[in-house]
Amino acid sequence: MPRTSLSVVSDSITARAPSKVNLHLGVGPRRDDGYHDLVTVFQALSLHDDIRVARANEMSVTVRGEGAGSVPTDGANIAVRAAVALADWAGRTGRVSIDIDKSIPVAGGMAGGSADAAGALVALAALWKLDIGRDDLAAIAADLGSDVPFALHGNTALGTGRGERLMQVLSRGEFHWVLALAREGLSTPAVYRELDRLRDSRSGGVAADDERDLLRRPDDLMQALASGDARAVAPLLHNDLQPAALSLQPTLRRTLRAGIDAGALGGIVSGSGPTCAFLCADEISAVNVAAELSGAGVARSVRTACGPAPGTRVLGTPEQA
Ligand code: C5P
Repeated sequence: MPRTSLSVVSDSITARAPSKVNLHLGVGPRRDDGYHDLVTVFQALSLHDDIRVARANEMSVTVRGEGAGSVPTDGANIAVRAAVALADWAGRTGRVSIDIDKSIPVAGGMAGGSADAAGALVALAALWKLDIGRDDLAAIAADLGSDVPFALHGNTALGTGRGERLMQVLSRGEFHWVLALAREGLSTPAVYRELDRLRDSRSGGVAADDERDLLRRPDDLMQALASGDARAVAPLLHNDLQPAALSLQPTLRRTLRAGIDAGALGGIVSGSGPTCAFLCADEISAVNVAAELSGAGVARSVRTACGPAPGTRVLGTPEQA
């Protein structure tokens, strides 16, 4: 007589994916393929997106939360592209629904789209019970976008190449951040183009010596991270894309000044911006800086977050549909 299986079938899985800030972002000259070589130190932050996947009759995606209205819900959605890429790898049809609950600002320089792609990969690998190794997952992630491998990895890492080649960086303790979200987003390609334009107009391009400097590993910063001392880290925050982001959104200068005036140890444009990230001495200081920045009217909204946060992971036990 056939036995009735009592095993639980998981019909939906939710993955949580972190945002990121670049503590150091050194950008080399434009390559022939349009990308730029980077030397960057990423830190994953607790501000996250949740990505829920479930079996369905056809592929669909819904988005709610922070900036949901400006995220595509067709095949251009990066989580859908991630699902298609993973389904191809697994040789199966990608008939799933994907529901994204966003807290990471859209076009904010915090890798929100990359987080959604990483979330879809991790959740679907669990839903489909795929036996996929880290390297294969990281290769699919790198094809989707330069920051997707780091969204999988989380914590603190040195990124090279386009930012997709990662090495874990030792970071002690917790760092407390305040994030000032801007009213308008910035397009990442537009910010890189503006950097190229600024460099060309100033010096006729990047000389070989400059190039070596731009792509130098930030050893001082890495030592400061290992010591866990926010006061040592703050003056070493550096972003080569910041002048380009400020050129496209000059009001960010006011935002950066307001955060320092409010008591942050250091402030920086996050990645290609326009989110500004402020490193604070401790949690209480971060709450105070956030309150003062909110009152200053220089940002659409203000959040606190801490890092390093873990990489993209499945949440809790599988939910039942
Ligand atoms: O890889 P991703 O799709 O996230 O990159 C978006 C855009 O950002 C690229 O098309 C390119 O214009 C720019 N970019 C770059 N160099 C990098 C990463 C991104 O020029 N290392």
